[in-house]
Amino acid sequence: MKIGIVGAGLQAKRRGPIVLQSKHEIVSITAEHLDLAKPLAKELGCKPVSNWMDVVNSGIDALLVCTPPHVHAQISIEAMKKGIHVLCEKPLCTTMSDAEQMVKTAKENNVILKCGFNHRYHPAIRQVKKWVDEGQIGEITFIRSIYGIGARPDVQKEWRSNPKIAAGGQLMEQGIHCIDLMRWFVGNPNEVVCLTSTPHSLIEPLEDNAFVTFKTEKSQLVNIHSSILQWKNHFSFEVFGTGGYAIMDGLGGSYGVEKAILGKRDPFGPFAENIVEFRGGDVSWKLEWEEFENSIKTGKEPEGNGTDGYESLRMVFAAYQSQREKRTVNLNEAK
Ligand SMILES: NC(=O)c1ccc[n+]([C@@H]2O[C@H](COP(=O)([O-])OP(=O)(O)OC[C@H]3O[C@@H](n4cnc5c(N)ncnc54)[C@H](O)[C@@H]3O)[C@@H](O)[C@H]2O)c1
Repeated sequence: MKIGIVGAGLQAKRRGPIVLQSKHEIVSITAEHLDLAKPLAKELGCKPVSNWMDVVNSGIDALLVCTPPHVHAQISIEAMKKGIHVLCEKPLCTTMSDAEQMVKTAKENNVILKCGFNHRYHPAIRQVKKWVDEGQIGEITFIRSIYGIGARPDVQKEWRSNPKIAAGGQLMEQGIHCIDLMRWFVGNPNEVVCLTSTPHSLIEPLEDNAFVTFKTEKSQLVNIHSSILQWKNHFSFEVFGTGGYAIMDGLGGSYGVEKAILGKRDPFGPFAENIVEFRGGDVSWKLEWEEFENSIKTGKEPEGNGTDGYESLRMVFAAYQSQREKRTVNLNEAK
């Protein structure tokens, strides 16, 4: 396949080399300014072009949209109208109407739209999902997840602090991964209650801290805490069931060793856990790319598709609505 990339920042640097390893050709890349695209173009052996339309028009089969969220919709929609498959970074875009349009355009043009939800492809979360699907912990009763980082000193100067560019604050930027995982495990919840804050004005007016609780039709509670004030990076996704618990802890690197932990309910025996530690680098980007590649080949919808991108965006906006209106929001009514 011939691939194009829009954006030449952190995500393009992560995804570009994976595309090359899979023996596809990267044809063109752009960034906000041509000069910003040149160094990565050189590394990836492709042509730097001056704007995203030139990438879309460079004879490509698939496009990686690795820009900040405010331009995800426009770029993805134009590409899909030309029959180009799109892997678009999360959050899918910045408004529900754009998200709806993106999903609709993919369907109308019979192309794959995948949202960048790489956390689904971490081996530890796949192990946890396997245990849960096998019934090892019985029926899910509740989930608790934490995604915490320490904000970079100059975060105020980044697009992540600009509400005209970002779709939201920390809950939207990182917490959305936990929301996507929640939906993967228990489907769409019915209700949400959320409190956010900006206590240290790091990315004001966007939140730097969010505590969110969802409730499903089966009364399962899901609590998510997302923060840029955690200072030591932390990721955990803990699933509790009637017969035990299955936990993902760490993401490798600065988040600590990636582990999957299984514990069984046993009121009398000594506490015992099955702990699986995953070594080596982060394979999630490679596995996510392979899923996208395979979907293009087979026409089968990928995990973390456009609809998943749409739904997770809807969940975050409903959480913000709860914070704004100081009430529990019914997700069946939230738009
Ligand atoms: N899955 C993950 O874990 C993960 C991690 C980080 C970022 N992201 C997401 O990836 C996206 C990009 O984030 P990033 O960290 O790579 O940002 P970044 O700031 O490092 O890079 C953004 C790139 O987009 C370019 N750009 C901006 N506006 C443009 C435009 N109009 N046309 C063409 N290029 C444009 C910039 O020049 C830059 O090269 C965001 O949506 C972010 O939320 C996902």
